[in-house]
Formats: sequence, structure tokens, C-alpha cells
Amino acid sequence: MLPRMRTAIIAGNWKMYKTAAAAVSLIKDLEGKLEGAGDVEVVVCPPFTALSSVASALRSGGASIKLGAQNLHWETEGAFTGEISPLMLTELGVRYVIIGHSERRQHFGETDETVNLKVAAAFAHGLLPIACVGESLEQREAGSTSQVVERQVLSGLGGLTPEAANSLVVAYEPIWAIGTGRNATPEDANDVIRHIRAVIGSMYGPEAARQVRLLYGGSVKPDNVDAFMEEPDIDGALVGGASLDAAGFARIVKFQSPVRPA
Ligand code: PGA
Repeated sequence: MLPRMRTAIIAGNWKMYKTAAAAVSLIKDLEGKLEGAGDVEVVVCPPFTALSSVASALRSGGASIKLGAQNLHWETEGAFTGEISPLMLTELGVRYVIIGHSERRQHFGETDETVNLKVAAAFAHGLLPIACVGESLEQREAGSTSQVVERQVLSGLGGLTPEAANSLVVAYEPIWAIGTGRNATPEDANDVIRHIRAVIGSMYGPEAARQVRLLYGGSVKPDNVDAFMEEPDIDGALVGGASLDAAGFARIVKFQSPVRPA
């Protein structure tokens, strides 16, 4: 069998769910269910307070699940009450960090500018950002999806080194599909994602466009993941609600899709 063009990523965004104890039991449950998964990077992003306990559980467990955080501050340290620095994350064994999730843009005032600072800080500390972009329902209905995501990519993901650009992970999450049970159709999601790939190509060249991994997020479930993963430009999924259930998330990790040549 030929490998997928890019290694798939399935990332679970646990949002503000799970105490440390509950997070550890979810991880143990999940580890027991991942046997037989294909060539896929599995990432879990618990709340900050559970990172340390989940990191220890992952060290003693057998599955190669990677740890991600849901946010970070761009400074290494300083008088920023309530914030968490990249250094504090890497110390715990965190490898990935979600940046610019629409809930952070909507409720906590994040902008493309803060996304850009955070993406640069993540790379500077050896963390891989999962940078989120996506349009609102109003923007979709006005026909401006392409321009919205293009602006988010151009200003949120600018100024990177070529190496960083190649290893970027971007999640396209239409806001109206998050936590609503409504999906973009796989074809629509792939169209927007193909556009994002082209925009990254225009910023960083064809190699970056070829290597960047682009995820779809928004009500990904065990019963629809296969259809998304069949699309040629979709390299994985950022999963919210369905990542809180071990059996469901394990099924998402074991998505079925045709293997495509490089
Ligand atoms: P959902 O969330 O899967 O619950 O729609 C996705 C996300 O917010 O990353």
C-alpha cells in the first residue's frame, strides 16, 4: 500500500472539560482502544490543569499519543496574570498547541495579530501550532468564506521561516459547525482547505503547500470522519465533543479512507 501524501493527524480538543483525575481515566480508556490504528498522529489537548497528570499517564502507557495544549502566551515569562508560557508547556512534554480557536477569538478577544505572535512563539519553543481559521455563518451566507480564511491565513500565519511553514498544521473550522452537529459537506470543506493550501503556497512556496497539514474541524463524529478523510486535501481532524468519548474518538482515529499516492 502506498502511504498517504502527508501523515494524518487526529487531534482531540477537550476544551474546558475534565478534571485532572477524569482526564487520566479518559486517557487510560483511550489507550486501550487504539490498537490497530493506522499511520496517524494522535494528539490530545486537555485543559492546562490536566496536562501534567496526562503527561505522566502517557509516559507510563503504551500508546504513542502526543500531548497538546489549547492556548499559550507568546512571552516566555512576565507579569501576565493568568497566562501560560511556551516554556511551561514544553517542560511538561507538550508538543502541540491549538492557537486562535474560534472560541478564543469570540470570547477572549484573540485576533489574527495575537495568533501570529503565538504561532511564532510556539515555533520558537519547538511546539507545533494547530492554528485555527474559519468563517461565521453570516460570512458564509454572504459568500465571503474564501476571503475570510484567506485574511486569517495571511495575517495570522505570516513571517515564518521556511522550515516552520512546512511543519504548520492549520485547522479549518467553520464556526457554525462547531458543537452544533452541523457539518460542512466534505466537498465544501475540501474546497476551502484547498484554497488555504494555495494561500500558503503563495506565501511560502510549493514545498510548504505540499507539506502543510490541513485539518477539518466542526462536529466531526465516528459516523462522518471517513467521508472527510476521503477528501484529497484534508489531512486530519480537530475533534471537540466526540473526543471526550474514548470509544468514539478511537473510531475517529481509525478512520477508513482510500490510500493516496504521493
Ligand atoms: P466539535 O468542536 O467537534 O465539538 O464541533 C470542534 C472544535 O471546536 O475544535
